[in-house]
Amino acid sequence: MYDSHISSRKDDHVRLAQQYYEQNALNPRTHAEIDAMQFIPNALPEVSRADVSRETSFAGLALERPYFINAMTGGTPRANEINRRLARVAQETHSPMALGSMSIAVKNPDTRAAYAQLASDFPDVRFLANLGAEHTLESARFVVDLVGAKALQIHLNAAQEIVMPEGEKDFRGWTEHIRTVTEGLGADGVPVIVKEVGFGMSAETVAQLVDAGVHTVDVAGRGGTNFVQIENARNAEQDFSYLEDWGLSTLRSLLEAMHVREEREELRAHEERAEGLGGTHLDIIASGGVRGPLDIVKYVALGADAVGLSAAFLQAVTASEDADEAVAGAVALVRAWDEHVTNLLTILGVRSLPQLRARAPYVLPESVHAYVRQRFA
Ligand SMILES: Cc1cc2nc3c(=O)[nH]c(=O)nc-3n(C[C@H](O)[C@H](O)[C@H](O)COP(=O)(O)O)c2cc1C
Repeated sequence: MYDSHISSRKDDHVRLAQQYYEQNALNPRTHAEIDAMQFIPNALPEVSRADVSRETSFAGLALERPYFINAMTGGTPRANEINRRLARVAQETHSPMALGSMSIAVKNPDTRAAYAQLASDFPDVRFLANLGAEHTLESARFVVDLVGAKALQIHLNAAQEIVMPEGEKDFRGWTEHIRTVTEGLGADGVPVIVKEVGFGMSAETVAQLVDAGVHTVDVAGRGGTNFVQIENARNAEQDFSYLEDWGLSTLRSLLEAMHVREEREELRAHEERAEGLGGTHLDIIASGGVRGPLDIVKYVALGADAVGLSAAFLQAVTASEDADEAVAGAVALVRAWDEHVTNLLTILGVRSLPQLRARAPYVLPESVHAYVRQRFA
């Protein structure tokens, strides 16, 4: 990757993500399975809406609601303006906010001041720093310190890099880097979250990450922002449109990660009984194509600890040229979604997200059962 390309690439990503957002949202295939997942209604909920809690946590961060602002951008004037708007939303709603890849700050000292300014202007916002898996522990510590991050997201984006004209084509060593960074930052008290960027993660990948010491994964599945599509539009040399359906959907990816969690929990229970040993809980974030409260509640019911949204927040904070208006709109959206999440929990007859995971009955389409049978039976 060449340094001089990073800035224009960042702006391309935002522009193209927005260009494709509507077109993809209208594609009925994209959300067919999550739409076909149906809760079984509860005609006797025996719950007062006033008693319902939306609280959850991941990577040691307490959340007032089961969703947060996921990684997007930073490092160019336009990207910094978007980040400032997102940070205002994060501040008002007490949401954690993930920054987009900060490799631009590692490589180009001129971009650092804006990150430091963001962190000092929004001291209450819990920023998550973000880097690719090729980076060293030193770089990881540097970006965490630059914004006083509460956690580091390490993104896995092999499919994106392959399609990106100037992208990395050598993916060796990522697992070892992740192990080193996770251990090193862990010693500093900074948790690491490993995420995809929209193509999902398999059970094999999640198991490999857990073995490398990772305790939080964000499956970031297919269904929303599509980096094959975005990078293909930037690629004048080769056509990768045949890969536009690449990846695992967020729903299937979440089931893959849950499979690993269940397997590891069984093992842990066994080990605890046998020798008093125990691993640590695996936190799972679902993201990729999340459209609103019903999707959020479905992914939590399936087992996610929290849900990440990028495109939806990007749309909200750029809905108006006027920053105050756009930020107010995004905050209003969060408040409205919060109400809807509470409404959904109430009619499902559950008072909390753990109860939602444990008790809310649902059915999944046959295609999902067939998938699970093939993968795990
Ligand atoms: C404009 C844009 C830039 C992104 N840049 C990054 C990035 O730098 N690092 C990263 O981990 N994910 C990045 N993502 C991916 C998101 O964090 C998320 O995994 C993906 O967009 C799927 O979520 P969505 O469908 O809600 O957008 C970016 C997403 C968008 C829309």
